[in-house]
Amino acid sequence: MNENSETELNGRWVRAEALDLAASLPDASIDLVYIDPPFGTGSAWTMLQGRGGKGRRAGERAYEDGARSAPSEELAELFDQIERVLRPGGAFFLHLDWRTVHRAKILLDDIFGADNFLNEIIWHYATGGVPKRWFARKHDTILYYVKSDPDGNGHTFHRLQQKKYLAHKMSRKGVEEFRDEGGWYRYKFLDDVWTIPWLTQDAKERTGYPTQKPVALLERILEAATDPGDTVADFFAGSGTTAVAAMRLGRSWVVGDRAELSEETSKRRIEDEAESCAGWTSTQIAWDVLRSDRERSLGEKCPTDSKKKAGVKRPADSEEEGRFDVAG
Ligand SMILES: C[S@@+](CC[C@H](N)C(=O)[O-])C[C@H]1O[C@@H](n2cnc3c(N)ncnc32)[C@H](O)[C@@H]1O
Repeated sequence: MNENSETELNGRWVRAEALDLAASLPDASIDLVYIDPPFGTGSAWTMLQGRGGKGRRAGERAYEDGARSAPSEELAELFDQIERVLRPGGAFFLHLDWRTVHRAKILLDDIFGADNFLNEIIWHYATGGVPKRWFARKHDTILYYVKSDPDGNGHTFHRLQQKKYLAHKMSRKGVEEFRDEGGWYRYKFLDDVWTIPWLTQDAKERTGYPTQKPVALLERILEAATDPGDTVADFFAGSGTTAVAAMRLGRSWVVGDRAELSEETSKRRIEDEAESCAGWTSTQIAWDVLRSDRERSLGEKCPTDSKKKAGVKRPADSEEEGRFDVAG
């Protein structure tokens, strides 16, 4: 990647169609792509009440989610572009649910190769609602692929650990045990079923943007599959969760969305984050509009050293095994 394109890909929010934004990026310029496109619910999503006065636009239409027949041809084209923009060994995380994930997997096995499929991650959560005629659907599915690397350098993967609380102190030989306000615990390696709380109405990070995902989910993905300084992209940014996780972990980011309310919500959230995130100021972030003719109008560029200045807050970045303080 040349120095200019690297600069453009750090701290950049783009109002654009996902396909246009992906198509505008250079080949092999991205280390990880995460996308959370509409699931095909057939719903019109409106803004919710956020926490602490956030989500002032509650009730306003944020975006439409088409019928269950997705993934559409457009999504298939997007997968091709994602494969192109990833560097060899780069990672792709596709977040969907039971409605369309099976169709997407067939497409991705063709594009990335079935041997490059690494995990079907289940994000399990507890929300209200108990249906009478089937089991309650309480998980999303995240497909994890890597792009082939003909040079055989492989992909980045850091095994992560999380706390597992114990009924009492076990004192097993060779197993370290710790204690905090939640009781005795030990660390265990993360498997492919992740229990992370849904963002309830009083969740601190809740912006009011519908279908906002927890930062903890994105932090896990970025910690596991990237290194500090790597570049992360998300073409369905919503409330800007991927950018926030990237800022906290010292990763470069380029994200975008076509919705006006996504831009408004992300902007407020990312600027707040920039104020509290070591090494970032909101003037380092470029807010762009990508016209549908695929011509870019570049906004303010980030300083070249912002990547170095971005604070890496989690000790896990300098350790082989990352650790999370989350019950699982
Ligand atoms: C499920 S939400 C993403 C939520 C996000 N992960 C978060 O944590 O806030 C899906 C987003 O995709 C956007 N979207 C839908 N179709 C799009 C398209 N063709 N191009 C760009 N954005 C699109 C919607 O505006 C919406 O913000």
